[in-house]
Amino acid sequence: MINRAEYVERRNKLAKKLSKNSVSVVLSGEQKIRSNDTEYPYRQNSDFYYLTGFKEDKAALVFVKKKKKVRVLLFVQKKDKKLELWNGKRLGEIKAKKRILVDEVFSSDLFEEKLKEFLKDKKKVYFDLDSEDARAKSLKKLSKGFRTHESISAIVQRMRLIKSNSEIKLIQKAIDITQEAHHKAMSFKKTGKKEYELQAKIEYIFKSSGAYSDAYTSIVACGNSANTLHYVQNNKPLVENALILIDAGCEYEYYASDITRTIPVTGRFSEAQKELYNMVLDVQYEILRMIKPHAKRSQLQKRSEELLCEGMIRLGILKGKLKKLIKKQEHKKYYPHGIGHWMGIDVHDQAPYKDKIGKEIALKKGMVLTIEPGIYIDKNDKTVPKKYRGIGIRIEDDILVTKNGCKNLSAKIAKTVREIEALGSR
Ligand code: GLY
Ligand code: MN
Ligand code: MN
Repeated sequence: MINRAEYVERRNKLAKKLSKNSVSVVLSGEQKIRSNDTEYPYRQNSDFYYLTGFKEDKAALVFVKKKKKVRVLLFVQKKDKKLELWNGKRLGEIKAKKRILVDEVFSSDLFEEKLKEFLKDKKKVYFDLDSEDARAKSLKKLSKGFRTHESISAIVQRMRLIKSNSEIKLIQKAIDITQEAHHKAMSFKKTGKKEYELQAKIEYIFKSSGAYSDAYTSIVACGNSANTLHYVQNNKPLVENALILIDAGCEYEYYASDITRTIPVTGRFSEAQKELYNMVLDVQYEILRMIKPHAKRSQLQKRSEELLCEGMIRLGILKGKLKKLIKKQEHKKYYPHGIGHWMGIDVHDQAPYKDKIGKEIALKKGMVLTIEPGIYIDKNDKTVPKKYRGIGIRIEDDILVTKNGCKNLSAKIAKTVREIEALGSR
Protein backbone atom coordinates (compact mmCIF):
# COMPACT_ATOMS: atom_id res chain seq x y z
CA MET A 1 0.00 0.00 0.00
CA ILE A 2 1.03 3.56 -0.59
CA ASN A 3 0.18 5.83 2.31
CA ARG A 4 -1.40 9.26 2.10
CA ALA A 5 1.78 11.04 3.13
CA GLU A 6 3.54 9.71 0.05
CA TYR A 7 0.91 11.16 -2.27
CA VAL A 8 1.20 14.50 -0.47
CA GLU A 9 4.97 14.35 -0.88
CA ARG A 10 4.62 13.70 -4.63
CA ARG A 11 2.28 16.67 -5.04
CA ASN A 12 4.63 18.92 -3.07
CA LYS A 13 7.52 17.83 -5.23
CA LEU A 14 5.54 18.54 -8.38
CA ALA A 15 4.33 21.90 -7.04
CA LYS A 16 7.94 23.03 -6.64
CA LYS A 17 8.62 22.37 -10.33
CA LEU A 18 5.76 24.58 -11.53
CA SER A 19 6.28 28.20 -12.61
CA LYS A 20 4.89 31.02 -10.52
CA ASN A 21 1.59 32.52 -11.68
CA SER A 22 0.47 29.23 -13.15
CA VAL A 23 -2.47 26.86 -13.09
CA SER A 24 -1.90 23.14 -13.56
CA VAL A 25 -4.56 20.54 -14.20
CA VAL A 26 -4.30 16.75 -14.04
CA LEU A 27 -7.50 15.06 -15.16
CA SER A 28 -8.88 11.71 -14.10
CA GLY A 29 -9.36 9.04 -16.77
CA GLU A 30 -12.56 8.88 -18.78
CA GLN A 31 -15.13 6.11 -18.83
CA LYS A 32 -14.93 4.48 -22.25
CA ILE A 33 -18.11 3.20 -23.89
CA ARG A 34 -17.89 -0.35 -25.18
CA SER A 35 -21.30 -0.29 -26.85
CA ASN A 36 -24.60 1.36 -26.09
CA ASP A 37 -25.11 1.11 -22.30
CA THR A 38 -22.00 -0.89 -21.51
CA GLU A 39 -18.61 0.46 -20.63
CA TYR A 40 -15.08 -0.93 -20.56
CA PRO A 41 -13.82 -1.57 -17.04
CA TYR A 42 -12.74 1.80 -15.71
CA ARG A 43 -9.11 2.46 -14.99
CA GLN A 44 -7.87 5.69 -13.51
CA ASN A 45 -5.46 7.88 -15.50
CA SER A 46 -1.95 6.87 -14.42
CA ASP A 47 -0.61 10.38 -13.67
CA PHE A 48 -3.74 11.30 -11.73
CA TYR A 49 -3.50 8.08 -9.75
CA TYR A 50 0.19 8.67 -9.03
CA LEU A 51 -0.64 12.05 -7.49
CA THR A 52 -3.81 11.14 -5.60
CA GLY A 53 -4.40 7.39 -5.24
CA PHE A 54 -8.02 8.29 -6.03
CA LYS A 55 -9.89 5.84 -8.27
CA GLU A 56 -13.12 7.68 -9.19
CA ASP A 57 -13.80 9.25 -12.57
CA LYS A 58 -14.84 12.84 -13.45
CA ALA A 59 -12.25 14.15 -11.01
CA ALA A 60 -9.44 16.66 -11.47
CA LEU A 61 -6.42 17.79 -9.49
CA VAL A 62 -5.51 21.45 -9.80
CA PHE A 63 -2.47 23.39 -8.61
CA VAL A 64 -2.88 27.15 -8.39
CA LYS A 65 0.48 28.80 -7.89
CA LYS A 66 1.06 32.48 -7.29
CA LYS A 67 4.60 33.24 -6.24
CA LYS A 68 5.85 30.43 -4.06
CA LYS A 69 2.57 29.54 -2.47
CA VAL A 70 0.60 26.74 -4.08
CA ARG A 71 -3.01 25.76 -3.44
CA VAL A 72 -3.80 22.13 -4.24
CA LEU A 73 -7.42 21.58 -5.17
CA LEU A 74 -9.43 18.53 -6.04
CA PHE A 75 -12.66 18.22 -7.99
CA VAL A 76 -14.76 15.12 -7.29
CA GLN A 77 -18.27 14.00 -8.15
CA LYS A 78 -20.71 15.09 -5.50
CA LYS A 79 -22.76 12.56 -3.57
CA ASP A 80 -25.91 11.48 -5.43
CA LYS A 81 -28.03 8.73 -3.93
CA LYS A 82 -29.76 7.83 -7.19
CA LEU A 83 -26.64 7.54 -9.29
CA GLU A 84 -24.73 5.80 -6.51
CA LEU A 85 -27.43 3.11 -6.50
CA TRP A 86 -26.44 2.25 -10.07
CA ASN A 87 -22.75 2.97 -10.20
CA GLY A 88 -21.42 2.58 -6.68
CA LYS A 89 -20.58 4.82 -3.78
CA ARG A 90 -18.74 8.08 -4.25
CA LEU A 91 -16.39 9.49 -1.69
CA GLY A 92 -17.90 12.99 -2.01
CA GLU A 93 -16.34 16.36 -1.26
CA ILE A 94 -16.22 16.18 2.54
CA LYS A 95 -14.56 12.79 2.87
CA ALA A 96 -12.27 13.44 -0.10
CA LYS A 97 -10.73 16.43 1.68
CA LYS A 98 -9.83 14.29 4.70
CA ARG A 99 -8.73 11.29 2.69
CA ILE A 100 -6.68 12.95 -0.03
CA LEU A 101 -5.39 15.78 2.15
CA VAL A 102 -5.69 18.60 -0.37
CA ASP A 103 -6.35 22.25 0.50
CA GLU A 104 -9.87 22.32 -0.86
CA VAL A 105 -12.36 20.06 -2.64
CA PHE A 106 -15.06 21.17 -5.07
CA SER A 107 -17.83 19.38 -6.88
CA SER A 108 -16.83 18.47 -10.42
CA ASP A 109 -19.88 20.42 -11.66
CA LEU A 110 -17.97 23.59 -10.80
CA PHE A 111 -14.87 22.68 -12.81
CA GLU A 112 -15.20 25.23 -15.64
CA GLU A 113 -16.48 28.01 -13.46
CA LYS A 114 -13.66 27.64 -10.94
CA LEU A 115 -11.04 27.24 -13.65
CA LYS A 116 -12.07 30.58 -15.18
CA GLU A 117 -11.57 32.17 -11.79
CA PHE A 118 -8.15 30.54 -11.22
CA LEU A 119 -6.89 31.47 -14.68
CA LYS A 120 -7.73 35.16 -14.36
CA ASP A 121 -4.38 36.62 -13.39
CA LYS A 122 -2.10 33.75 -14.45
CA LYS A 123 0.56 33.50 -17.14
CA LYS A 124 1.06 29.83 -17.69
CA VAL A 125 -1.10 26.75 -17.82
CA TYR A 126 0.00 23.13 -17.56
CA PHE A 127 -2.16 20.22 -18.63
CA ASP A 128 -2.01 17.04 -20.66
CA LEU A 129 -1.74 18.56 -24.12
CA ASP A 130 -2.62 15.28 -25.85
CA SER A 131 -5.72 14.58 -23.79
CA GLU A 132 -8.93 13.79 -25.68
CA ASP A 133 -10.98 14.66 -22.60
CA ALA A 134 -13.66 17.30 -23.23
CA ARG A 135 -12.42 19.16 -20.15
CA ALA A 136 -8.94 19.46 -21.68
CA LYS A 137 -10.51 20.95 -24.77
CA SER A 138 -12.43 23.52 -22.78
CA LEU A 139 -9.26 24.27 -20.85
CA LYS A 140 -7.52 24.95 -24.14
CA LYS A 141 -10.25 27.43 -25.03
CA LEU A 142 -10.26 29.08 -21.62
CA SER A 143 -6.52 29.66 -21.78
CA LYS A 144 -6.41 30.75 -25.40
CA GLY A 145 -4.67 34.04 -24.83
CA PHE A 146 -1.90 32.44 -22.79
CA ARG A 147 1.61 32.50 -24.12
CA THR A 148 2.68 29.25 -22.54
CA HIS A 149 1.01 25.89 -22.30
CA GLU A 150 3.15 23.06 -21.02
CA SER A 151 2.58 19.34 -20.71
CA ILE A 152 1.99 18.37 -17.09
CA SER A 153 2.26 14.68 -17.95
CA ALA A 154 5.83 15.09 -19.22
CA ILE A 155 6.80 16.38 -15.77
CA VAL A 156 4.86 13.77 -13.81
CA GLN A 157 6.19 10.95 -15.97
CA ARG A 158 9.75 12.01 -15.25
CA MET A 159 8.94 11.89 -11.54
CA ARG A 160 7.46 8.43 -12.01
CA LEU A 161 10.77 7.13 -13.36
CA ILE A 162 12.24 6.71 -9.87
CA LYS A 163 10.26 4.26 -7.79
CA SER A 164 9.84 4.52 -4.03
CA ASN A 165 10.11 1.47 -1.77
CA SER A 166 6.34 1.18 -1.56
CA GLU A 167 6.04 1.23 -5.35
CA ILE A 168 8.71 -1.44 -5.67
CA LYS A 169 6.77 -3.60 -3.20
CA LEU A 170 3.64 -3.36 -5.38
CA ILE A 171 5.59 -4.17 -8.54
CA GLN A 172 7.08 -7.15 -6.70
CA LYS A 173 3.61 -8.29 -5.66
CA ALA A 174 2.42 -8.10 -9.30
CA ILE A 175 5.49 -10.11 -10.36
CA ASP A 176 4.91 -12.72 -7.65
CA ILE A 177 1.37 -13.33 -8.91
CA THR A 178 2.67 -13.45 -12.47
CA GLN A 179 5.30 -15.97 -11.36
CA GLU A 180 2.59 -18.30 -10.12
CA ALA A 181 0.76 -17.92 -13.43
CA HIS A 182 3.83 -18.69 -15.56
CA HIS A 183 4.69 -21.69 -13.39
CA LYS A 184 1.14 -22.91 -13.81
CA ALA A 185 1.53 -22.53 -17.58
CA MET A 186 4.70 -24.64 -17.43
CA SER A 187 3.16 -27.48 -15.42
CA PHE A 188 -0.27 -27.52 -17.10
CA LYS A 189 -0.67 -30.47 -19.49
CA LYS A 190 -0.84 -28.66 -22.80
CA THR A 191 -0.81 -31.17 -25.64
CA GLY A 192 -4.15 -31.13 -27.49
CA LYS A 193 -5.27 -27.92 -25.85
CA LYS A 194 -5.70 -24.46 -27.41
CA GLU A 195 -3.71 -21.30 -26.78
CA TYR A 196 -6.76 -19.67 -25.14
CA GLU A 197 -7.05 -22.51 -22.65
CA LEU A 198 -3.53 -21.78 -21.51
CA GLN A 199 -4.34 -18.06 -21.45
CA ALA A 200 -7.34 -18.80 -19.23
CA LYS A 201 -5.16 -20.76 -16.77
CA ILE A 202 -2.81 -17.79 -16.55
CA GLU A 203 -5.47 -15.14 -16.18
CA TYR A 204 -7.41 -17.22 -13.67
CA ILE A 205 -4.41 -16.90 -11.39
CA PHE A 206 -4.23 -13.13 -11.98
CA LYS A 207 -7.87 -12.60 -11.07
CA SER A 208 -8.08 -15.09 -8.24
CA SER A 209 -5.00 -13.53 -6.62
CA GLY A 210 -6.63 -10.12 -6.42
CA ALA A 211 -4.93 -8.55 -9.42
CA TYR A 212 -7.17 -6.05 -11.18
CA SER A 213 -6.47 -7.65 -14.53
CA ASP A 214 -3.71 -8.27 -17.00
CA ALA A 215 -1.37 -5.28 -17.39
CA TYR A 216 -1.68 -5.70 -21.19
CA THR A 217 -3.35 -8.24 -23.45
CA SER A 218 -1.68 -11.61 -22.92
CA ILE A 219 0.23 -13.14 -25.82
CA VAL A 220 0.05 -16.94 -25.92
CA ALA A 221 1.67 -17.84 -29.21
CA CYS A 222 2.47 -21.39 -30.24
CA GLY A 223 5.05 -22.17 -32.93
CA ASN A 224 5.07 -19.76 -35.84
CA SER A 225 2.47 -17.47 -34.18
CA ALA A 226 5.29 -16.24 -31.94
CA ASN A 227 6.77 -14.53 -34.99
CA THR A 228 3.90 -12.05 -34.99
CA LEU A 229 5.12 -9.68 -32.31
CA HIS A 230 1.71 -8.51 -31.16
CA TYR A 231 -0.12 -11.81 -31.60
CA VAL A 232 -3.19 -11.69 -29.34
CA GLN A 233 -5.66 -13.96 -31.14
CA ASN A 234 -4.56 -16.88 -28.93
CA ASN A 235 -6.87 -19.27 -30.78
CA LYS A 236 -4.60 -21.91 -32.30
CA PRO A 237 -3.87 -25.45 -31.09
CA LEU A 238 -0.87 -26.17 -28.90
CA VAL A 239 0.93 -28.59 -31.13
CA GLU A 240 3.31 -31.21 -29.86
CA ASN A 241 7.02 -30.41 -30.12
CA ALA A 242 6.44 -26.68 -30.64
CA LEU A 243 7.49 -23.85 -28.36
CA ILE A 244 4.97 -21.41 -26.87
CA LEU A 245 5.90 -17.79 -26.31
CA ILE A 246 3.90 -16.47 -23.36
CA ASP A 247 4.08 -12.73 -22.73
CA ALA A 248 1.72 -12.17 -19.81
CA GLY A 249 1.80 -10.09 -16.66
CA CYS A 250 -0.80 -8.86 -14.20
CA GLU A 251 -1.50 -5.42 -12.83
CA TYR A 252 -1.74 -5.26 -9.04
CA GLU A 253 -3.01 -2.12 -7.32
CA TYR A 254 -2.12 -0.07 -10.39
CA TYR A 255 1.37 -1.51 -10.82
CA ALA A 256 2.38 -3.65 -13.78
CA SER A 257 4.50 -6.69 -14.35
CA ASP A 258 5.69 -7.69 -17.82
CA ILE A 259 7.11 -11.18 -18.19
CA THR A 260 7.83 -13.39 -21.18
CA ARG A 261 8.77 -17.03 -21.03
CA THR A 262 9.13 -19.40 -23.96
CA ILE A 263 8.36 -23.00 -23.08
CA PRO A 264 7.88 -26.34 -24.85
CA VAL A 265 4.36 -27.75 -25.25
CA THR A 266 5.47 -31.20 -24.13
CA GLY A 267 7.71 -29.96 -21.34
CA ARG A 268 10.96 -30.86 -23.15
CA PHE A 269 13.04 -28.75 -25.52
CA SER A 270 14.41 -30.34 -28.69
CA GLU A 271 18.14 -29.94 -29.33
CA ALA A 272 17.57 -27.21 -31.94
CA GLN A 273 15.16 -25.34 -29.64
CA LYS A 274 17.71 -25.56 -26.84
CA GLU A 275 20.45 -24.09 -29.06
CA LEU A 276 18.33 -21.09 -29.98
CA TYR A 277 16.91 -20.66 -26.49
CA ASN A 278 20.28 -20.74 -24.75
CA MET A 279 21.70 -18.29 -27.23
CA VAL A 280 18.96 -15.75 -26.36
CA LEU A 281 19.28 -16.51 -22.64
CA ASP A 282 23.03 -15.89 -22.67
CA VAL A 283 22.41 -12.53 -24.33
CA GLN A 284 19.89 -11.64 -21.63
CA TYR A 285 22.36 -12.55 -18.85
CA GLU A 286 25.07 -10.46 -20.47
CA ILE A 287 22.78 -7.41 -20.76
CA LEU A 288 21.64 -7.82 -17.15
CA ARG A 289 25.29 -7.64 -16.11
CA MET A 290 25.57 -4.22 -17.76
CA ILE A 291 22.74 -2.63 -15.78
CA LYS A 292 23.85 -0.16 -13.14
CA PRO A 293 23.57 3.57 -12.46
CA HIS A 294 24.94 5.70 -15.34
CA ALA A 295 24.55 2.93 -17.93
CA LYS A 296 22.35 3.96 -20.86
CA ARG A 297 19.55 2.11 -22.56
CA SER A 298 21.09 2.79 -25.97
CA GLN A 299 24.25 0.94 -24.84
CA LEU A 300 22.14 -2.03 -23.78
CA GLN A 301 20.34 -1.91 -27.12
CA LYS A 302 23.55 -1.80 -29.14
CA ARG A 303 25.19 -4.59 -27.18
CA SER A 304 22.09 -6.81 -27.41
CA GLU A 305 22.08 -6.36 -31.18
CA GLU A 306 25.76 -7.27 -31.44
CA LEU A 307 25.41 -10.30 -29.19
CA LEU A 308 22.31 -11.61 -30.94
CA CYS A 309 23.96 -11.05 -34.31
CA GLU A 310 27.04 -12.95 -33.14
CA GLY A 311 24.84 -15.78 -31.89
CA MET A 312 22.99 -15.92 -35.19
CA ILE A 313 26.28 -16.17 -37.09
CA ARG A 314 27.37 -19.00 -34.79
CA LEU A 315 24.14 -20.91 -35.43
CA GLY A 316 24.25 -20.34 -39.19
CA ILE A 317 21.17 -18.10 -39.24
CA LEU A 318 23.13 -15.14 -40.59
CA LYS A 319 26.15 -15.46 -42.84
CA GLY A 320 28.97 -12.95 -42.99
CA LYS A 321 31.06 -10.72 -40.77
CA LEU A 322 29.55 -9.16 -37.65
CA LYS A 323 30.47 -5.58 -38.48
CA LYS A 324 29.07 -5.73 -41.98
CA LEU A 325 25.86 -7.47 -40.91
CA ILE A 326 25.28 -4.87 -38.19
CA LYS A 327 26.03 -2.05 -40.60
CA LYS A 328 23.45 -3.41 -43.03
CA GLN A 329 21.06 -4.05 -40.12
CA GLU A 330 20.61 -7.66 -41.26
CA HIS A 331 20.00 -8.81 -37.69
CA LYS A 332 16.90 -6.61 -37.45
CA LYS A 333 15.01 -9.11 -39.57
CA TYR A 334 15.20 -11.51 -36.62
CA TYR A 335 15.42 -9.05 -33.71
CA PRO A 336 13.30 -6.07 -34.71
CA HIS A 337 12.38 -4.62 -31.31
CA GLY A 338 13.91 -2.76 -28.41
CA ILE A 339 15.80 -4.36 -25.53
CA GLY A 340 13.31 -3.04 -23.01
CA HIS A 341 11.28 -0.15 -21.64
CA TRP A 342 10.43 1.64 -18.42
CA MET A 343 7.74 -0.05 -16.35
CA GLY A 344 5.63 1.04 -13.41
CA ILE A 345 2.02 2.20 -13.21
CA ASP A 346 1.94 1.61 -16.96
CA VAL A 347 3.46 -1.46 -18.52
CA HIS A 348 5.25 0.94 -20.83
CA ASP A 349 5.77 3.83 -18.44
CA GLN A 350 5.60 6.81 -20.72
CA ALA A 351 8.58 8.72 -19.47
CA PRO A 352 10.74 9.87 -22.31
CA TYR A 353 14.17 8.32 -22.84
CA LYS A 354 15.69 11.75 -23.33
CA ASP A 355 15.79 14.77 -21.07
CA LYS A 356 14.50 18.24 -21.89
CA ILE A 357 17.55 19.13 -23.96
CA GLY A 358 17.49 15.88 -25.89
CA LYS A 359 20.25 14.12 -23.93
CA GLU A 360 19.69 10.46 -23.20
CA ILE A 361 18.59 9.73 -19.64
CA ALA A 362 21.07 7.46 -17.88
CA LEU A 363 19.95 4.72 -15.52
CA LYS A 364 19.54 5.70 -11.88
CA LYS A 365 18.87 3.84 -8.67
CA GLY A 366 15.14 3.19 -8.33
CA MET A 367 14.30 2.93 -12.03
CA VAL A 368 12.53 -0.18 -13.25
CA LEU A 369 12.89 -1.46 -16.80
CA THR A 370 12.29 -4.66 -18.72
CA ILE A 371 15.03 -6.59 -20.48
CA GLU A 372 13.60 -8.66 -23.29
CA PRO A 373 15.89 -9.92 -26.05
CA GLY A 374 14.26 -12.14 -28.66
CA ILE A 375 14.67 -13.93 -31.94
CA TYR A 376 11.91 -14.61 -34.47
CA ILE A 377 12.32 -16.97 -37.42
CA ASP A 378 9.46 -17.37 -39.83
CA LYS A 379 8.48 -20.87 -40.86
CA ASN A 380 8.97 -19.98 -44.53
CA ASP A 381 12.41 -18.42 -44.19
CA LYS A 382 14.47 -20.65 -46.44
CA THR A 383 17.69 -18.78 -45.68
CA VAL A 384 17.77 -20.26 -42.19
CA PRO A 385 18.58 -23.90 -41.26
CA LYS A 386 15.33 -25.84 -41.32
CA LYS A 387 15.53 -26.91 -37.69
CA TYR A 388 15.16 -23.29 -36.52
CA ARG A 389 12.22 -22.27 -38.70
CA GLY A 390 8.85 -21.49 -37.14
CA ILE A 391 10.36 -20.60 -33.77
CA GLY A 392 9.97 -17.33 -31.90
CA ILE A 393 11.73 -16.86 -28.57
CA ARG A 394 11.65 -13.94 -26.16
CA ILE A 395 12.85 -13.92 -22.57
CA GLU A 396 11.68 -10.94 -20.53
CA ASP A 397 12.33 -9.94 -16.93
CA ASP A 398 11.62 -6.84 -14.82
CA ILE A 399 14.72 -5.18 -13.46
CA LEU A 400 15.27 -2.66 -10.67
CA VAL A 401 18.35 -0.45 -10.88
CA THR A 402 20.14 -0.51 -7.51
CA LYS A 403 22.99 1.50 -5.99
CA ASN A 404 25.74 -0.56 -7.58
CA GLY A 405 24.00 -2.70 -10.14
CA CYS A 406 20.55 -4.16 -10.50
CA LYS A 407 18.10 -6.62 -9.02
CA ASN A 408 16.08 -8.92 -11.22
CA LEU A 409 12.66 -8.70 -9.55
CA SER A 410 11.45 -11.71 -11.55
CA ALA A 411 14.53 -13.86 -10.93
CA LYS A 412 12.44 -16.55 -9.27
CA ILE A 413 10.44 -17.33 -12.40
CA ALA A 414 11.86 -20.50 -13.97
CA LYS A 415 14.02 -19.56 -16.93
CA THR A 416 16.84 -22.00 -17.66
CA VAL A 417 16.12 -25.07 -19.79
CA ARG A 418 16.64 -27.19 -16.68
CA GLU A 419 14.24 -25.16 -14.53
CA ILE A 420 11.55 -25.09 -17.21
CA GLU A 421 11.86 -28.80 -17.94
CA ALA A 422 11.74 -29.60 -14.24
CA LEU A 423 8.35 -27.84 -13.96
CA GLY A 424 7.09 -28.98 -17.36
CA SER A 425 4.26 -31.39 -17.96
CA ARG A 426 5.03 -34.54 -19.92
N1 GLY B 1 4.18 -6.98 -23.15
C1 GLY B 1 4.58 -5.87 -23.87
C2 GLY B 1 6.02 -5.74 -23.95
O1 GLY B 1 6.75 -6.69 -23.70
O2 GLY B 1 6.55 -4.69 -24.18
MN1 MN C 1 7.96 -5.53 -22.31
MN1 MN D 1 6.10 -8.26 -22.48
